[in-house]
Amino acid sequence: MPFLCYFAKKTLMNILLLGSGGREHALAWKIAQSKDTDKLFIAPGNAGTSQLGTNISLNPNDFPEVALFAVRNNIELIVVGPEEPLVNGIYDYFQSRSSLKDILVLGPSKEAAQLEGSKAFAKEFMRRHNIPTAAYQSFTANQIDEAEKYIKTLKPPYVLKADGLAAGKGVVIVQDEDSAITSLREMLINQKFGKASDKVVIEQFLSGTELSVFVITDGSDWLMLPSAKDYKRIGEGDTGLNTGGMGSVSPVPFADEIFMQKVRSSIIRPTIRGLFDDGLDYKGFIFFGLINVNGEPYVIEYNVRLGDPETESIIPRVSNDLVPLLYNCAKGNVSGLQVEIDNRSAVTLMLVSGGYPEKYAKGYEISIKEGVFDSSDKGTQLIFHAGTTTNADGKTVTSGGRVIAVTSLAQSQRAALKLSYDAAGAVNFTDKYFRSDIGLDILDEQ
Ligand code: AMP
Ligand code: GLY
Repeated sequence: MPFLCYFAKKTLMNILLLGSGGREHALAWKIAQSKDTDKLFIAPGNAGTSQLGTNISLNPNDFPEVALFAVRNNIELIVVGPEEPLVNGIYDYFQSRSSLKDILVLGPSKEAAQLEGSKAFAKEFMRRHNIPTAAYQSFTANQIDEAEKYIKTLKPPYVLKADGLAAGKGVVIVQDEDSAITSLREMLINQKFGKASDKVVIEQFLSGTELSVFVITDGSDWLMLPSAKDYKRIGEGDTGLNTGGMGSVSPVPFADEIFMQKVRSSIIRPTIRGLFDDGLDYKGFIFFGLINVNGEPYVIEYNVRLGDPETESIIPRVSNDLVPLLYNCAKGNVSGLQVEIDNRSAVTLMLVSGGYPEKYAKGYEISIKEGVFDSSDKGTQLIFHAGTTTNADGKTVTSGGRVIAVTSLAQSQRAALKLSYDAAGAVNFTDKYFRSDIGLDILDEQ
């Protein structure tokens, strides 16, 4: 059994998790259950993560401060929740310093993180490796005439994307050519998204149902995590403004074995091989934002992290210990490891502040009915904090647009939905809002 000695077995390590949302609370919940976790620190964390480990007031993008903390606290593994530190090069920061390189950072190198940090980089990568995606071209401000000509060759709707990170707002979809040209000029000339729109990707509109597929990779081998569907719009029936995500369900009933086989062969394998062939150092999560177009999967986007609120429905479905997976992945050894997936359905509802994703108030006290949530590893109604903090009086209060995620697990999606809607009623704060149609479009037959 060569594997037994191959897997670096670590008992009791100190782990630093970067981030402060529902995704990080779900990760902290799972990491805290591990037999391999000694001390868990979350930077900066939220009121929920403070119950599972120690919150540290650190900016995840301040690498010297993160490094100082990690050294002083014998951190062996850093798990990065959000994309920004990855795109800013946290992996390289640690790797390139002899005093830090033994601290494992789970995440891609700065160059590989361009898969999320630059839409043009991602599209070129997909073109180079024959990965199905919408036809596209990218343009800078001095190519405005060519860009307008390209728009005229396309049919509506028109999809324009700021190349760089734009806090999830950099994609514009418009119905007519004039609006497309106006948006193009706003992005390239008026710098609507700042430096992020110095380059714009214009692409073919794809029509279908989206889903989020996740793997963990060491850059040559990979393991599949559960898939999920998220609900991005604020309003019922997928209407209104885009948000960070209003809910998620896992598994995705339409992602059957035939479809997932196509995802593996035409998207995941060529992506991993492409990273390897291009010499891109990648140890971490890959989030494939896919669209199902008449049974064929296409990549809408890559993200170099887990999704939020997808994490809140997929991590509770991973039934084995997560820390050995994270640790061995960061070490470069996932081959032979397994992700054990709980076959129950998970449904996550996001409870948000009234007014979100536009202006909303903060600081409202949150009350949680006792006896509803069981956050042990056996719990079927779980609560993950997203935008919460503890105020000077020690009360848990709202501090963001997305406030609390509730996740339920049950044998059928219908039963999980019912549990989650009951759980949503057990959490209260002024102007609480949530969508009451999450998952209804894809209810399974059970
Ligand atoms: P992105 O930031 O690339 O995920 O884009 C945000 C959202 O815009 C996606 O989740 C899709 O709903 C939509 N979108 C992006 N690209 C396309 C496309 N080529 N066709 C249709 N919808 C798209
Ligand atoms: N839920 C989509 C994302 O995390 O980007």
